[in-house]
Parts: sequence; C-alpha cells; structure tokens
Amino acid sequence: MSVDAAPLAGLRIDGDRLVRRLLELGEIGAIEGTDGCARLALTDEDRDGRDLVLSWMRDLGLDVTIDGIGNVIGVMPQRDGAPWSTQPVMTGSHIDTVGTGGKYDGNLGVLAGLEVIETAMTEIAAGRLTLDRPLAVGWFTDEEGARFPPDMLGSLVYVGGLPLEEALDITDRDGVTVGDELDRIGYRGTAPIPGPVPHAFVELHIEQGPVLEDEGITIGAVTGVQGISWTELTITGWSAHAGTTPMRLRRDPGLVAARINVFVRELTERFGGAQVGTCGVVSHVPNLVNVVPSQVTMTVDLRNTDESILQRAEAELRAFVVEAAEAEGCAVESRSLARFEPVEFDERVIGIVETTAASLGHSVRRMPSGAGHDAQMLARVCPTAMIFTPSVKGISHNVTEFTEPDDLAAGANVLLHTMLHLAGTPADGADAFANAAGGAR
Ligand code: GLV
Ligand code: MN
Ligand code: MN
Repeated sequence: MSVDAAPLAGLRIDGDRLVRRLLELGEIGAIEGTDGCARLALTDEDRDGRDLVLSWMRDLGLDVTIDGIGNVIGVMPQRDGAPWSTQPVMTGSHIDTVGTGGKYDGNLGVLAGLEVIETAMTEIAAGRLTLDRPLAVGWFTDEEGARFPPDMLGSLVYVGGLPLEEALDITDRDGVTVGDELDRIGYRGTAPIPGPVPHAFVELHIEQGPVLEDEGITIGAVTGVQGISWTELTITGWSAHAGTTPMRLRRDPGLVAARINVFVRELTERFGGAQVGTCGVVSHVPNLVNVVPSQVTMTVDLRNTDESILQRAEAELRAFVVEAAEAEGCAVESRSLARFEPVEFDERVIGIVETTAASLGHSVRRMPSGAGHDAQMLARVCPTAMIFTPSVKGISHNVTEFTEPDDLAAGANVLLHTMLHLAGTPADGADAFANAAGGAR
C-alpha cells in the first residue's frame, strides 16, 4: 500500500455483509431441520452455489476466469482498465462441502476474499489507496474429496501436481467422471492449467478443531499442514446364511474390517503425538441382518505432521491388513485415494499474519493445521500461509459447525491487512519478499 498508511490502518471489511452472504450460500443444499448443508463437488447443489458466488464476483466487476478443472478465479481490475503487469496477491478456498457440512468450512475463505477485494476497491475508487499488485480471490474444485478423491483436487491440478486429463477421468462411487460432471454443470472452463502463479497466497479458514477456543485465542497463524494418507480397502469373503453356517467355516470380510478399525485406533494410541487415524467408510455388501457379508469396502485416513512416522503407520497398516485378511481366508485389494506429505508454510507470510493480527488487537498463536487445505497446494508454487478463526466446540464436517460473527470478521480483517501488506510497497520502498530466494514474483 503506497499512500496514507495511517488512515488505512482503520480499514475494516463489512462483517454483516459477510455473515449475510455465508447464510445465503448455506441455504443452497441446506440439510432440512439442521444448520448444515450438502454441496458435494459437481452436484446440482455445488453448481447452484457456484452460480451464486460467481454472480457476486461479477457484480463486483472482477475479471473472472474458469479453468479446465472448474476452478474459478476473480482478479480485481486496474482502476484505469489497463492490464496489470504484476502477479496478484491471491486468497481463496472452496465452496464444495462434505455430505454433512456446515456453512463455514471453505465458504468463509471465499466470501471473506470477496469482502477484502470489495473493501479495497472502494478505497481505490475513492483515491485513498493504490496497490502495486492486484488482489484475487478463487475457489478450487472438489477440495473435500468426499465425492472425487483425492481432496484438494482442483488446487492440486492448478499448481500442476496432477495432469488435467488424469483428474478429469477420476470417478465417484457410481462411476461418474469429474469431466462429465463438469460438463453437465457447465463449469469446464478454458483458462490454462497449470494456472498463473500468484505473488503470494493467503487462505482464511475456520480452525475445525478446539485449540483456539480452548485457549481463548482469536487468530491462528498457521505454520503448515500435516501429511495425509487415504487408503481404500476392498475385502472379499464368502456370503453365507447367518443361521446355518458354523463359525469355523466362515470367511467374513466384516470381521476383517472390524479388526482393521480396532487396529487403527490402537496404532494411534501406541504412536501417540500427532498421529490420528479414522475408518470413515465401512460399507457391507449385501448389508442384511441375516447374511454374512460377501464384501466390505472401507477407508483408512491416517495423518501425521511427521512424514517418517506417517510412513511407519502406513507400513504397519499394510502388514496388518494382509495378516487379518489371511487369518479369515479373505482376499483384499488396496488402493491409495490420496497421499500428501506434510507442508510447511512460508515463514515470511506466517510472520506477516502474526504481526497483522497483533496490530489489529487480536490474540494470536502459531499452530499447524489438522485438516487439508488448498493453501497446501499453492505452497508448492508461491509464498503461502493461512489464518484460522475459532470453531465453536471445535466441531466441523458436521451440521452444527459454527463460528461467532465477531471471529469471522476478525479473521477477514486480518486477511484484509495481510493482503494489503503483500500487495503494496511499504513506505520505505521495501517489498515484503525483498530477500526472497525465488518464488515470489
Ligand atoms: C479436507 O477437508 C480434509 O482435511 O479431509
Ligand atoms: Mn475446508
Ligand atoms: Mn472440509
């Protein structure tokens, strides 16, 4: 920011408008009788949510592009309409949800990004602010990965981490492809993949865990994201009559699945520390009270901030799966659905988030992220960090997910001033990345 830094210190986003938009978006795919919503990636509900947010971007006059995986990016136009010669400072997140989602996961980051840009554009139009770089906000396709694994699919493709053609061929459980669904909902765009590299990326997100609330802290300056390993196991045995088949003659994949589930819990207890493990899908065929199942499909989600420990957990799981299946005479097939190593964010951007939060009068602490985020993909190509706001009771991926309006506004204001700092030239002429060893443009 190049002029009048002092008056701009009091600049704030419109917190009421932010909450209004979050509630309006949350009405799309609303789960009846709850505060939650279901907008699984590339469903009709996702399309309707996209249409709404796209209309807000266009109302604001952003230059909007849609790429081949359906990521939507809006860039602030230059005041005189001339093209920018610098790369944008970008924010963004996702607007797809899990099947039992809340109104805040992902949505906050996108709608707060709109707030930041609207606030900055108002100041620019009034001649009170000049930026050296544009601000941009985007949302990335299928961050949740709940329908089309892996998670963070759109941002992975954006940064060139997965070829577009491979991503378009990914199927959901019914065999429907990403490419067909993008065509069906009208969101297969033409903007190039990989996408333009931003100058820097900052994502605002709800914490989705209990730490900030527990410690009474308003802002998390996120230092990185733990490693994620998703495996799908298909265990096949013999379907049989539940009353007539002696126990010694059964080959029950349900039992194998149950043993794996218990093993995963025991592994996390043995490993301790940051190790977590979850069997989120356990799906029996034919799923009837008096039939020994013929097949079970299950998933195992293992996460750790330490890559070598995560690898050890994966190796132990692989060995146990083979042993448990053999003991029951079952066959097992294993498929990796997602595998991302732990990511460390850029120290300079983390520091800017931290000092910005403190300068706005908020309590702040550094913390890692337990959940996966689009920012971890952008971190591969540009200086990146994240801002967390508290989640009430630490609940997320649940219809009761909630963050207090004051905390939403606090997070959005930290995002505003972090982005302004990154997009401007401080009064002394120093760039925030003056000593960058590459990456920042
Ligand atoms: C994505 O939201 C994940 O962390 O599972
Ligand atoms: Mn999210
Ligand atoms: Mn999520």
